[in-house]
Amino acid sequence: MNIATTRLGAPRLPSGQGWTQFAKGFAPTVVGALPGFFRGDYLGQLMEVDYREAYRGRRVMVTGGLGFIGSNLARRLADLGADVLVVDSLIPVYGGNLFNLNLDGYSARVRVNVADIRTAPTMNYLVQGQDIIFNLAGQVSHRDSMIDPYTDLEINCRSQVVILEACRHYNPGVKIIFAGTRQQYGKADYLPVDERHLMHPTDVNGINKMAGEWYHILYNNVYGLRATSLRLTNTYGPRQWMKDERMGFISWFVRLAIEGRPIPLWGDGEQIRDLNYVDDVVEAFLMVGAGDVANGQIYNLGNDPVTLRQFVELLVEITQSPGGYILHPWPDDRKRIDIGAYYGNYGKISKELSWQPRVPLREGLTRMVAYYREHHAHYWNEEKNLADK
Ligand SMILES: NC(=O)c1ccc[n+]([C@@H]2O[C@H](COP(=O)([O-])OP(=O)(O)OC[C@H]3O[C@@H](n4cnc5c(N)ncnc54)[C@H](O)[C@@H]3O)[C@@H](O)[C@H]2O)c1
Repeated sequence: MNIATTRLGAPRLPSGQGWTQFAKGFAPTVVGALPGFFRGDYLGQLMEVDYREAYRGRRVMVTGGLGFIGSNLARRLADLGADVLVVDSLIPVYGGNLFNLNLDGYSARVRVNVADIRTAPTMNYLVQGQDIIFNLAGQVSHRDSMIDPYTDLEINCRSQVVILEACRHYNPGVKIIFAGTRQQYGKADYLPVDERHLMHPTDVNGINKMAGEWYHILYNNVYGLRATSLRLTNTYGPRQWMKDERMGFISWFVRLAIEGRPIPLWGDGEQIRDLNYVDDVVEAFLMVGAGDVANGQIYNLGNDPVTLRQFVELLVEITQSPGGYILHPWPDDRKRIDIGAYYGNYGKISKELSWQPRVPLREGLTRMVAYYREHHAHYWNEEKNLADK
């Protein structure tokens, strides 16, 4: 991460003081007295102080830490010297995959508790003693949420109350960061979508994630838990679910391209999206978790807009896939929950925490393709791959 040379001069932490300690003392007193513009600007620069030291020796729990984003985050936290506990149910149809931590020996550096966030007694126990919780466990498939709304409700909504109640009763000083989603907005009324945009989700998943998020903010405001939500947009990179298209188009398209199969694009392929490479998303979580600036706040992530056709053309170029892509009419079940054109305004997190997406799409996709070319046996057709050995 770049350390800023700022207009106000690069601030330094008082000697012997950790960033979190510093921010806790600083935020309510001095910052509270500053005008908003100055406050955001100055703290944005403060967060450019190397936040990475904030995690050394801290007890950090990652729910959903065997899944795509959670495992990338857990690995990075281990590298930063945190004492990491991963909590994941490893339900086979979701994105949890032991290989995500096994590769390069991270499973020896991170504790894993295979547990379900729906189980209150378990969560009451596990939250105890944690300094920070990154709360990423979730049912991610939009289509599954329509087929089985009750399970989505249980995991993405009710379980969030389970975790927050566990924190309220057994660890009220904890800091908790929730993984929200741009799906909460539904079809955009205007672009780019900022955090003030009305939420009118088009699917069950969006509704439950919205409720899950607002439970976090409520517990921040009423009970003093320190909670933040990041509204993620389409995220891509290594360690993603690749077995089918249920978890989103990017991973599925990448697999098809690696296998040289044609990529089906619905409609005219001109749908607009913004895509974040997973390392950038991990960095946003780390920035938010390191201080108290973001308590009670909601932030969009985002990136420059790209059409799906542009995305697929780049992917075909990188993989040299002979299958190319084919335009198909929209299937009914997809059209009904599609959000249309979307890209997010990430100005708020940019201003307040100096977060920016740093990995260009070409570079991120190239890294992703290289990862799955090497490790695909652990992400799809595992049974066949094992039988072949
Ligand atoms: N990937 C994206 O593009 C994206 C976009 C917006 C929001 N998000 C959010 O980010 C979070 C992580 O997403 P991901 O892409 O890494 O998905 P993922 O499916 O790879 O990871 C989710 C993890 O949660 C675990 N999990 C599910 N139900 C659980 C339960 N009841 N108890 C314990 N663990 C459980 C799964 O086993 C899995 O490992 C989710 O909350 C998702 O809604 C992701």
